[in-house]
Amino acid sequence: MDIRSAGVVGLGTMGAGIAEVLARAGLTVTAVEADPDALARGMSMIHASLGKAASRGRLTEQQHREIASRVRPAAAMASMADADLVVEVVPEQLPIKRQVVAELDRVLRPEAIIATNTSSLSVTAIAAGSARPGRVVGMHFFNPAPVMRLVEIVTTVLTEPDSARSVTALAVRIGKTPVQVTDRAGFVANALLLPYLNHAVRLLETGYAARDDIDLAVTAGIGLPMGPLALLDLIGLDTSLAILEVLEREFGGTRYTPAPLLRRLADSGRTGRKTGRGFYDYRQQETGQTASRQRAELPAPPGTVTLIDPGSGRPASSDSDRAADLASLLAVAGISVTRDPAHSTDLVIVAIGPEGGVLGPASAVGRAADAIGLHLPDKDLAELVPSALTSAGALGTARALAARLGMTAVRSADRPGLLVGALLFAHLRDAVVMVADGYAAPGDVDTAMTLGCGYPRGPMRLLADAGPDLAVNVLSAMHAGYGDPAFAPPPLLREYALAGL
Ligand code: 3HC
Repeated sequence: MDIRSAGVVGLGTMGAGIAEVLARAGLTVTAVEADPDALARGMSMIHASLGKAASRGRLTEQQHREIASRVRPAAAMASMADADLVVEVVPEQLPIKRQVVAELDRVLRPEAIIATNTSSLSVTAIAAGSARPGRVVGMHFFNPAPVMRLVEIVTTVLTEPDSARSVTALAVRIGKTPVQVTDRAGFVANALLLPYLNHAVRLLETGYAARDDIDLAVTAGIGLPMGPLALLDLIGLDTSLAILEVLEREFGGTRYTPAPLLRRLADSGRTGRKTGRGFYDYRQQETGQTASRQRAELPAPPGTVTLIDPGSGRPASSDSDRAADLASLLAVAGISVTRDPAHSTDLVIVAIGPEGGVLGPASAVGRAADAIGLHLPDKDLAELVPSALTSAGALGTARALAARLGMTAVRSADRPGLLVGALLFAHLRDAVVMVADGYAAPGDVDTAMTLGCGYPRGPMRLLADAGPDLAVNVLSAMHAGYGDPAFAPPPLLREYALAGL
């Protein structure tokens, strides 16, 4: 079927974005929203986005006018009677989705296709409630829809081949990359993204790390385009909670149990950007990137540092390499370094690995209050890890030291994985398990996360670059530390580490 005219039901952030994308590709789009205020808001989102593109020279004024005129607002579904395809983008609740599909069944021509943009619900369950189950498919877009290139095409045992072919061809025509997935909760991208975002909320609510540090660790340390808390605000905390609830019902286990803080914020109406407040306050234009603010308030950097190698006394280890690398970095920055604990210095640094462990070595040299753990997961990021006995002065001096080295500093609890490792390796573990389950090929996992979530490198590439042995070590430390099987290195990962692959 050659799809020329479309409808979109539900004009929230995603619905407006999808309507814009379809209209930009030349389709006429009837945008239906029963609530007149929501309809007006959705239409102004579309006009604002097109206006921005025109002001940046991405669209001519004429293109802008033509695209805008192809989107026709309407209050009733009957206005879409001629549509070849309708995308429903109503809230993530099966009864609401089914009610919309039943109404579409009544007004659309029998051959028209109904696409659901559900982010986690069963497309099979939605299709089974339709009078045309073979013409119901999943078309899962990513936020912001005009920017993110992935569309997950979800087929079910009921889908007619022609419906799948038609929406796949349409996805290509509107400039997206379609990836075929089967009907499993969260498909590929959300099943990987949401547990990782949930983990970040847990770290925040348990005081493991501060909001801005969590986001900076991910952007500066892993290179993802947004930190997890800022991304939750973009997706919407209510939407994220709904997806996690579906994933928890389907898969069980701690990774999917919504963090209580996420639920509280969603319940309180602080649902993210769309309401002006979530983890950040958008009414005050908070950005989460506070590195420059941090730098402005720093004390003087240390002139002298005692460097402790937690692995010393053992045979040559990666700890020793780490301490040696750190010693040369400090020396290049003009800081005088001693390894002799008897010398008096401005700061004691324990050159920890991602497994952590500051207090033992710091106490052993009798200067626990002056000592802080330092780990560099990336050339631009310093994880500062105070122990329970580290003084506030030592933490400030360590921040100044990181600034002197030209690095972004984040503070982490002294727990296995620290901040970057805990978030990253648990996330990569989920991806390995998905591959080991045979649900997605490694290439599909990377495509989903690069095109759907803007990762510069997908999880499999991140894992290959970090090395499976490091992933196994960090996950083993997390598993031993927390006793949670959700952190246990999966057998496939262990095999790759053992084989040196
Ligand atoms: N609508 C339209 N265009 C937008 C936009 C929006 N809401 N937000 C950004 N853009 C455009 C900008 O206009 C700009 O276009 P230009 O290059 O033509 O000028 C371009 O995108 C880049 O934007 P910015 O320079 O303002 O900002 P960034 O470079 O920081 O990029 C981002 C912003 C694209 C949002 C980037 O941070 C990113 O990729 N973030 C990850 C988003 C993500 O993970 N999305 C998936 C969430 S999961 C999901 O949606 C599934 C659902 O089921 C929950």
